[in-house]
Amino acid sequence: MNLFQFPRWTDTLRPLLGIAAVLTPTYIVAMFVYGASAETLQVGYAPEQPIPFSHALHAGKLGMDCRYCHNTVEAADAAAIPPLETCMNCHGGRIHLNSPKLKPLFDAYAGGESLKWVKVHDLPEFAYFSHAPHLKAGVSCVECHGRVDQMDLVETVKPLSMGWCLDCHRDPAPFLRPREEVFNLGWTTSEDRRTLGERLIAAHGIAPRQDCSTCHR
Ligand code: HEC
Ligand code: HEC
Ligand code: HEC
Ligand code: HEC
Ligand code: HEC
Repeated sequence: MNLFQFPRWTDTLRPLLGIAAVLTPTYIVAMFVYGASAETLQVGYAPEQPIPFSHALHAGKLGMDCRYCHNTVEAADAAAIPPLETCMNCHGGRIHLNSPKLKPLFDAYAGGESLKWVKVHDLPEFAYFSHAPHLKAGVSCVECHGRVDQMDLVETVKPLSMGWCLDCHRDPAPFLRPREEVFNLGWTTSEDRRTLGERLIAAHGIAPRQDCSTCHR
C-alpha cells in the first residue's frame, strides 16, 4: 500500500477539478476583456427612458422617499424598480390623466405589460454588489448616485470601476453618515466628515472587505 496515495473519495473531486481548471482562466480573461470595454467606464451615461420620469419632480419637489418606489433597497442586493401599479397609485386617479407623457404608462397598464426601463447603472455579471450592507453602514445613495433628487433623467456620476469601489473600502470614513440619514440626499453636518466617520466606524465596527472574493464569487 502506497502511503502517499490519495484516499479513494478524492476521485469524485477529479471531474470538478478538471472543470475548475478549464473555467478559471476563461473567467479571468473574460473579466479583463469585459472590464476594459468602454461602456463600463462611462460617467454621465443617461439613456432615454420609455417615459420621461423625473426624480427631480417626484423625489425632489414632491419629496417622495426613495423607499416608496425602491422598496427592497434596504434588505436586498438590488433596489427594485417599481411596477406600474406603484405609478398608478397616483396616476390611476386624477393626476395628469390626459398627459401625453403618461400615455405609455396607461397603454402598458391596459395591455397588462410592463415598461421597459433602461438600466443606467449596470455592473458586469462577474462583479457582486449589494445595497443592504452599504446602507446599514451609513453610506448614502448620494455617495454613489449623486443628487438623483435633482435629476430629471438619471445619469451615472461615478465610474463604478473596481478602483472606485476599493478607494472607499480602504478609507470609508469621509463617506459615512448616521444610518438614519442615508435617504436624506441633501443632509449636511457642521462636524468634520472624517472625524464623524471615524466615530461611526468605531461605534459600529465598520470594516469593508478588500479580498477578491468579496466582489468576485
Ligand atoms: C415615484 C417612484 C420613485 C421614487 C420616489 C424614486 N425613484 Fe428612483 N427610479 C424610479 C424609476 C421608475 C426608475 C427607472 C427609470 C429611470 O432610470 O429613471 C428609477 C431609477 C433610479 C435609479 C437608476 C437605476 C438604474 O437603472 O441604474 C437610481 C440610482 C434611483 N432611481 C435612485 C433613487 C433615489 C436615490 C431616490 C430617492 C431620493 C429615488 N430613486 C426615488 C422611480 C422612483
Ligand atoms: C456604495 C454605492 C451605492 C450606494 C450607497 C447606493 N447604490 Fe444604488 N447602485 C450601486 C451600483 C454599483 C449599482 C449597479 C448594481 C449592478 O449592476 O449590479 C446600483 C444600482 C441601483 C439601482 C438599479 C437597480 C439595481 O439594484 O441594480 C437603483 C434603483 C439604485 N441603485 C438605487 C439606489 C438607492 C435608492 C440608494 C440609496 C437608498 C442607492 N442606490 C445606494 C451603487 C450604490
Ligand atoms: C405619490 C404620487 C405619485 C406617484 C406614486 C407617481 N407620481 Fe408621477 N406625478 C405625480 C404628481 C403630483 C405629478 C405632477 C403633477 C403636476 O405637475 O401638477 C406627477 C407627474 C408625472 C409626470 C409628468 C407628466 C407631465 O405631463 O408633465 C410623469 C411622466 C410621471 N409623473 C410619471 C410617473 C411614473 C412613471 C410613476 C411610477 C414610477 C409615477 N409618476 C409615480 C405624482 C405621483
Ligand atoms: C463610498 C464608499 C463605498 C463605495 C464606493 C463602495 N463600498 Fe462596498 N462597502 C462600503 C462599506 C462602508 C461597507 C460595509 C462594511 C461593514 O459594514 O463592515 C461595504 C460593504 C460591501 C460589501 C459587503 C461585504 C463587506 O465588506 O462587508 C460588498 C460585497 C461591497 N461593499 C461591494 C462593493 C462594490 C462591488 C463596490 C463598487 C461597485 C462598492 N462596494 C463600493 C463602502 C463602499
Ligand atoms: C470592493 C469590490 C471589489 C474587490 C474587493 C475586487 N474587485 Fe475586481 N472588480 C470589481 C468591480 C466592480 C469590477 C468591474 C469594473 C468595471 O466594470 O469597470 C471589477 C473588475 C475586475 C477585473 C476586470 C478588469 C477591470 O479592472 O475592470 C478583474 C481582472 C478583477 N476585478 C480582479 C480582481 C482581483 C484579482 C481582486 C483581488 C485582488 C479584485 N478584483 C477585488 C470589484 C472588486
